[in-house]
Amino acid sequence: MKAQLTLHKEFAIGEVDKRIYGSFIEHLGRAVYTGIYEPEHPQADEEGFRKDVLGLVRELDVPVTRYPGGNFVSGYNWEDGIGPQERRPRRLDLAWATLETNRVGLNEFASWAKKARTEVMYAVNLGTRGADEARNIVEYANFPRGTYWSDLRRSHGVETPHNIRLWCLGNEMDGPWQIGHKSAFEYGRLAAEASKVMKLTDPGIETVLCGSSYARIPTFGDWEKTVLEEAYNDVDYLSLHIYFGNRDGDTPNFLGCSLEMDGFIKTVTGICDLVKAKRQAKKRINLSFDEWNVWFRSNDADRKIAPWEEAPPRLEDHYRMEDALVVGCMLITLLKNADRVKIACLAQLVNVIAPIMTEKGGPAWRQTIFYPFAQASRYGRGTALRVPVKVDTYESREYGDVPYLESVAVHDGEHERLALFAVNRSLSEALDLEAAVQGFSGYRLLEHSSLYHSELQAENTAAGETVRPRPVSGGRLEGERLSVRLPPASWNVIVLEKH
Ligand code: AHR
Repeated sequence: MKAQLTLHKEFAIGEVDKRIYGSFIEHLGRAVYTGIYEPEHPQADEEGFRKDVLGLVRELDVPVTRYPGGNFVSGYNWEDGIGPQERRPRRLDLAWATLETNRVGLNEFASWAKKARTEVMYAVNLGTRGADEARNIVEYANFPRGTYWSDLRRSHGVETPHNIRLWCLGNEMDGPWQIGHKSAFEYGRLAAEASKVMKLTDPGIETVLCGSSYARIPTFGDWEKTVLEEAYNDVDYLSLHIYFGNRDGDTPNFLGCSLEMDGFIKTVTGICDLVKAKRQAKKRINLSFDEWNVWFRSNDADRKIAPWEEAPPRLEDHYRMEDALVVGCMLITLLKNADRVKIACLAQLVNVIAPIMTEKGGPAWRQTIFYPFAQASRYGRGTALRVPVKVDTYESREYGDVPYLESVAVHDGEHERLALFAVNRSLSEALDLEAAVQGFSGYRLLEHSSLYHSELQAENTAAGETVRPRPVSGGRLEGERLSVRLPPASWNVIVLEKH
């Protein structure tokens, strides 16, 4: 099969905000306990954080990490997680029917984040709590000194404020499963007031309003319009969440799911702009895609977990080769919308639907989905470029006609480097890609790396990573003509660099 495309310096979509390579740690399953934190582990540092996990998080290069939930946050009292650890309460986490020990809270997580070279994106509880608790935590986290909450932080041994810039106004408040679920109007009003007092406490922060939990929820669209009408002036971003799964074993259909993600982004962008126009506002609301991933492989196992355990192995999807292709297509989709998506969080980071897995007392390793994310985060900084493509399509069950090739490019002007990200969705045929490369004279083909495997069901385990990127030879850049061959069912990164 053949694909023809054009890489042109002037086909800019927008600057890539590095925060689109964010991730997420929730108090859920083994994300925190025996994930990032395990004081009894041989690799634990002086604070109890696993150094092997920290190394992998740094390798992944995640500029921002959302915390502490997720559904968890809608029943969480943030004050439970501060002060001497031995005095912290053990609580029922009603969102996940788990016992929460509170050994890790805001100060521990902020310290972990520093070591992991990531910024904290903190979600406040707007389920069971409100504006008062939200402004208190901003004061505790960010105010320098001389007030009740800032001095309490200092008495807890944290002299320098955490200076958290990004705050989520609750989580998935449209979802009937959410603790403290609200109507769009109720939530919109609450979020506006919470954001207002949070920003009065620290005018330097930015806030994210909850959009829809998924694109097919019946309230989608109406929810966005109403919450934006109530909170437009007080917030900066609107959130989107989406998860996909190959529940019926139809892989070609599964590989087309990023088309739904793209449509979701475009529709939400339209609603933001509709409200902007109706208000005749100057301010533009951008998007925070703060939960996205493949999630379905652990569903059966999760139904068997008994309630009220501490850190049970919940949502532990063992990802396969085909899941990495979907994650690759989703990353490309975020980049294709770089003009409006300014924040995105792969949900999640460790153990819970995660690129990094750990064994309690044992090793940590990279799941299949680790690699497309790490490569996009490494090479996908700069200006996202639209890539016009001529390629065949196939008909899918849910997503209409799906092109065999999914692609986008990113030009890093500072380092004079151009990266083309490309997924070949054909399960049986290699794709001969021919590109006209315009506006990049003096560039040479530096590398072509490809993630593929003869078995789409192959997965990585603690014993070995069988799915990992491999160099592909045979590619050429002659004058303005680039030709490379993409293996069947593969994620590819083709890097051109100035001599
Ligand atoms: O990421 C897992 C869960 O998915 C989150 O807690 C929730 O926000 C979403 O429904």
